[in-house]
Amino acid sequence: MKQSFETSKLYYGFPIFILGYQDQTYGYNVTTCSSSYSLGDWLVIGVGSEENAADQIKHYQKFTVNIPNESFMLEMEQAGFISHREKIAKLGLDFQSSKLTQAPILDACPVVLDCKVDRIIEEDGICHIFAKILDRLVESDLLDDRGHFKNDCFAPTYFMGDGHKRVYRYLDDRVDPMGSFIKKARKKDDKNGIT
Ligand SMILES: Cc1cc2nc3c(=O)[nH]c(=O)nc-3n(C[C@H](O)[C@H](O)[C@H](O)COP(=O)(O)O)c2cc1C
Repeated sequence: MKQSFETSKLYYGFPIFILGYQDQTYGYNVTTCSSSYSLGDWLVIGVGSEENAADQIKHYQKFTVNIPNESFMLEMEQAGFISHREKIAKLGLDFQSSKLTQAPILDACPVVLDCKVDRIIEEDGICHIFAKILDRLVESDLLDDRGHFKNDCFAPTYFMGDGHKRVYRYLDDRVDPMGSFIKKARKKDDKNGIT
């Protein structure tokens, strides 16, 4: 039986990423985020209006989404706990500046989206940033010999929790192709003579 759950928030599992952006004071900077969705070439992220990341992205209208794996947890957490300061040199992060957006592309993150802001809707202290993905960069060992993404080789970490407690969650190795369950069910129906 379900019951109404009173809580200030319920994050049901969002992949953690490091926002990379140019910074008017520090040249380049980073901020940890988890609020995003992507459909096709669109990406929408949620950034608190008070954060330095919001001001800098409003100014430059460009950013990168750097998606780390488990090996980057300490740096990821530090980039999410330090605010309004220089973080790239402080955390010892290696990066290259994107040719398209000049935003930092972090060496340690195997998957990176290079993005240009389309519009920002600011509501209740949150900037909802609608962006177009200009380029997708992935480490070559995440592509098979036909250039397709190796889904089973990439494991971002997930942010989950309620107002009481928030945690990091990790993916396991299980992978099922999309459509496989319907296919299996059809096969079973065929075997049982159900049409
Ligand atoms: C795992 C994790 C996820 C986070 N997700 C978001 C997020 O989606 N949006 C956001 O605005 N802040 C998020 N934060 C908080 C910011 O990273 C934090 O406020 C940071 O210090 C802001 O830095 P800045 O002011 O230098 O930009 C997250 C922090 C962590 C550790």
